[in-house]
Amino acid sequence: MVKIDSTSTPLSEMKVDALVIGIRKGNKLTRQGTQVDKALGGGLTEHLERIAFKAKVGEHAIIPTFGRTNAGVVLAVGLGEDRVTHEEVRRAAGAAASKTASFKTVAFDLPDAAGARQAAVEGFLMGGYKFNRYKSNGQKQIEQTVYLGAAKKSDREADRGRLLAEAVNWARDIVNEPGGVRGPAGFADLAAKRAEAAGLTAEILGEKELKKLGMNGILTVGQGSSSPPRFLTIRYSPRGAKGMLGIIGKGITFDSGGLSLKTAEGMETMKTDCSGAAAVIAAITSLPELKPKINVIAAIPLAENMPSGNAVRPGDVIRHYGGRTSEVLNTDAEGRLVLADALAWMVDQKPDAMIDLATLTGGMMIALGKKVTGFFANEPRLAREIRDSAARTGERVWEMPLLDELRKDIDSDVADVKNTGGRYGSPIFGALFLRDFVGDTPWAHLDIAGPARADKHDHYIRKGATGVGVRLVVDWIEKRAGR
Ligand code: BES
Ligand code: MN
Ligand code: ZN
Repeated sequence: MVKIDSTSTPLSEMKVDALVIGIRKGNKLTRQGTQVDKALGGGLTEHLERIAFKAKVGEHAIIPTFGRTNAGVVLAVGLGEDRVTHEEVRRAAGAAASKTASFKTVAFDLPDAAGARQAAVEGFLMGGYKFNRYKSNGQKQIEQTVYLGAAKKSDREADRGRLLAEAVNWARDIVNEPGGVRGPAGFADLAAKRAEAAGLTAEILGEKELKKLGMNGILTVGQGSSSPPRFLTIRYSPRGAKGMLGIIGKGITFDSGGLSLKTAEGMETMKTDCSGAAAVIAAITSLPELKPKINVIAAIPLAENMPSGNAVRPGDVIRHYGGRTSEVLNTDAEGRLVLADALAWMVDQKPDAMIDLATLTGGMMIALGKKVTGFFANEPRLAREIRDSAARTGERVWEMPLLDELRKDIDSDVADVKNTGGRYGSPIFGALFLRDFVGDTPWAHLDIAGPARADKHDHYIRKGATGVGVRLVVDWIEKRAGR
């Protein structure tokens, strides 16, 4: 547990295990940094010069103070060029968190720019994340107190930062959990628990209800698993709300590929295939505290994609919610099948706009790599909003084309549409398939296959599930509500 506190005592005078000092290019020191440098007889500047500290974002150096300052050690972290952006603060704080994990008390000297406080708390709490509940010698998470300067009675920025970081870390936790521990029902229960704790109502539909509603995409993808599928909805309806938004997340709790079985290697990370669902749940459950005045509905199709005697076969045809049909040619293109039901259902709720998040295609990872979300939108306004939100939250996005002339490549001989279109441009085929189910509703599809999972630590990103999309979705909702 990390406690965020603030103090009016100059940070350089605080008795703490570590004092974190942000350093900008040219090794410029903050006021607190200057104080420390003085106490060390110029030792701080001298040391930074000696090790050729470049103040690159995330670069750091631990400097022992041998009792000459109140802090046990000084941790210098780079903040990059002169004008420090929020993302640079987030990253520097993330790096600082992982370096100070063993210290009980940490003072954090911030650049005094608007919004930097929130960014620092976000970065610090995301960067300190660990998933070690299955390590028998796992380091016990110590109680840590982080002091920020400029004491405040009500620290709105720090509170926002904590709320968002904790939402991200919740999403990371549920995705990092083994797929065998949280199947569709277990995942839905964990989500409902979080929703209730936030004061929201969650509704979980089981097989009977799915049948009644005609949600055969979800049922068909889930039919090969002995853990049956679910459809989860969460509603946020504050007093005085104007308008309504829909958010949808792909919740495949484990993707083996089904009969179109993946390779052993391809399956290794497929518990991550519920990252869209986790992001959407984490986002909507943050809203009661942020209080944007807009209605939001989250829809999460949950299924496990498994091969078995009951599994869907290539050639099978699905009648989705709302009546459109699809032909399953590759059972590993299952995400679009469950999302089709959820999108068509969401359209019936009549949102002003909706966005879905899905680890939909390996092809998107080939196209844009591990750091960038590729997205599609059927409306320029929505595309701009996604780009703007991402710019604020530091989550990188890139718009991909919803190329209408490729739609014929997913024409089916027997149904309205088939679920594959060939290897080249496969993310586009995924998006075009989904487009068939959204009608005229303004809609964006975020393919997070790459950034949902990290294969190494990097600033506030920790190896494993990243919680990508959580902050972006919250930002989008708040902006739509006219924050
Ligand atoms: N969950 C996968 C996509 C994926 C792959 C995400 C690797 C993250 C890392 C998805 O269900 C899938 O298998 N997609 C197929 C679609 C293809 C069969 C049309 C793919 O991209 O290979
Ligand atoms: Mn798949
Ligand atoms: Zn999948």
